[in-house]
Amino acid sequence: MRILVLGGSQFLGRAIASHACAGGHDVTCAARGLAGPIAAGARFVRIDRDLADGLAPLAGETFEAVVDVSRHPGQVRRAVAALKRPGVHWTFVSTISVYADNRIPGQRADTAPLREPVTADIEHSTEAIYGAAKVACEQAVGDDAFICRAGLIAGPEDPTGRFAYWPARLARGGEVLAPGSPEDAVQFIDVRDLAQWIVHAAETGLTGIYDGIGPIRTRGEFLSECASALNASCTFTWVDRAFLEAHDVRRWAGPRSLPLWLPLPDYAGFLTRDTSPARAAGLTSRPPGDTARDTLLWLRANNGPVIGLTSDEEKDVLAAWHARDAENMRP
Ligand SMILES: NC(=O)c1ccc[n+]([C@@H]2O[C@H](COP(=O)([O-])OP(=O)(O)OC[C@H]3O[C@@H](n4cnc5c(N)ncnc54)[C@H](OP(=O)(O)O)[C@@H]3O)[C@@H](O)[C@H]2O)c1
Repeated sequence: MRILVLGGSQFLGRAIASHACAGGHDVTCAARGLAGPIAAGARFVRIDRDLADGLAPLAGETFEAVVDVSRHPGQVRRAVAALKRPGVHWTFVSTISVYADNRIPGQRADTAPLREPVTADIEHSTEAIYGAAKVACEQAVGDDAFICRAGLIAGPEDPTGRFAYWPARLARGGEVLAPGSPEDAVQFIDVRDLAQWIVHAAETGLTGIYDGIGPIRTRGEFLSECASALNASCTFTWVDRAFLEAHDVRRWAGPRSLPLWLPLPDYAGFLTRDTSPARAAGLTSRPPGDTARDTLLWLRANNGPVIGLTSDEEKDVLAAWHARDAENMRP
């Protein structure tokens, strides 16, 4: 097939292009060329989607499938107007941040309520309006497309450094600060599994709205499977939300965070989505240990980014936790 990836110069877009090339497809990646190189074997076309005529370099070309990873409603509207034609399979990569309710576990893509979309005059997304902007993007694409709402994407080439915290930390071994309880849920998707499914969707003409995220595991299983795949010798000290927050350990991502941790019950629905429809439609997931091992190999070979608590910050929180235990044991 002739496949156009709008993007393709970083992480998921590049993985999609790479997987499509490996499957023998004729792949074009269209971007500004700022984020990074495109996949080997793909053709690069330079475009700027923020300009009114920014898609002109693609004029006259025909594609059987288009994959768009944009988060900006203006970019999506212009792409739909210029390139979406009957018979062209269209994939829009969205996000589970479109959902209005993060508390209720087990929600499904086809029934869960969405946030209000941003208004039609909003061209660009920001972190503050990311989910609402993606709702507007989805609406601009229409309901004859494959809308893939990704959960946290992990694996080699991740520019965020979020998932990478865990393989990097586990590989050091020793006492590991673990958030919440070993029974809490964790859910994410390996970038290569998501890319494979998106190419599969184009090949098979899959349409509809799905969550693109892997199976739910407990955090205890996740950490021990990853440690075991890395041959790391770790013990886990589970520390509750109140203590973490009192010691300025932050949620999800960024400096001083424990990545992939979200406070419960506020986010009990965010990492517990029902992905049985996606699985029935062909999404498969490799074991988390494989993702952890390959992420670590990539980090080491490329000096890739890792965010989260530093080693000293983790030690300080653990020391405070043990001091509290000792205090509590005093007669
Ligand atoms: N990472 C996660 O954990 C996560 C979770 C849920 C959903 N998602 C979604 O998954 C997708 C991730 O996509 P991704 O990894 O490929 O990263 P991305 O950051 O969404 O990539 C954006 C792509 O668009 C291109 N681009 C940006 N501005 C452009 C412009 N003005 N004109 C032309 N091209 C432009 C960029 O290339 P140039 O800069 O070279 O132009 C890049 O290739 C996104 O849709 C994101 O919302 C991600």
